[in-house]
Amino acid sequence: LNPKGVPRVLQSRFSLPLALVCVPTSPAKTTKFKITVDTNQPPVDLSVLFPEFSTKSEDKEGNSLAFQFLAGANVTVVASKTSQRYRIQSDRFEDTWLVVNELVQRFDQHFSTLGVQDFKKSFSGPLPLQEYFLSVDHHFQLRVSAQQYQDLLSERAVQFRAIQRRLLTRFKDKTPAPLQNLDTLLDATYSQ
Ligand SMILES: *[C@@H]1O[C@H](CO)[C@@H](O)[C@H](O)[C@H]1NC(C)=O
Repeated sequence: LNPKGVPRVLQSRFSLPLALVCVPTSPAKTTKFKITVDTNQPPVDLSVLFPEFSTKSEDKEGNSLAFQFLAGANVTVVASKTSQRYRIQSDRFEDTWLVVNELVQRFDQHFSTLGVQDFKKSFSGPLPLQEYFLSVDHHFQLRVSAQQYQDLLSERAVQFRAIQRRLLTRFKDKTPAPLQNLDTLLDATYSQ
């Protein structure tokens, strides 16, 4: 706190390690979605870019690495041996973003360490807008369902407390009226 009693705030931006959310896995050959990143520098060995992932997923013919996310999705990165292109592929389009983002950041770092001044990376070809909009729609649907579940939950909670109150009065009564299946209703509402 500063002398006037106002809390001081320090802000710092940093990236958490990629290894917190994924582990190495074996590369997938065929996937639904592909993104190609082009560069203007000779091909880089992926195990140099991702040293913490390179042990398990060695691939002899090409230079590839695969990541399995905690939520289950797999993303494979394939580096061409002859050109300066890198393909990021997955069965779920939205799961490619983190790997693409990480790859591009590590490129920047790698080439700046090497003292390369004019490193460029690019994406050519049509933007995968259809896949993008599908992801947006899917996300929207999930948000709508989440809200519906919230509404249902609060409705059931109101019902649960109402039954509880009635049951309590009966249990406190010296000559209680029959439960009339209120106990069953309480159980059912609880599971709902
Ligand atoms: C990801 O790869 C692992 C290992 O090959 C496999 O067991 C798993 O089912 C894959 N996940 C998905 C979502 O395909």
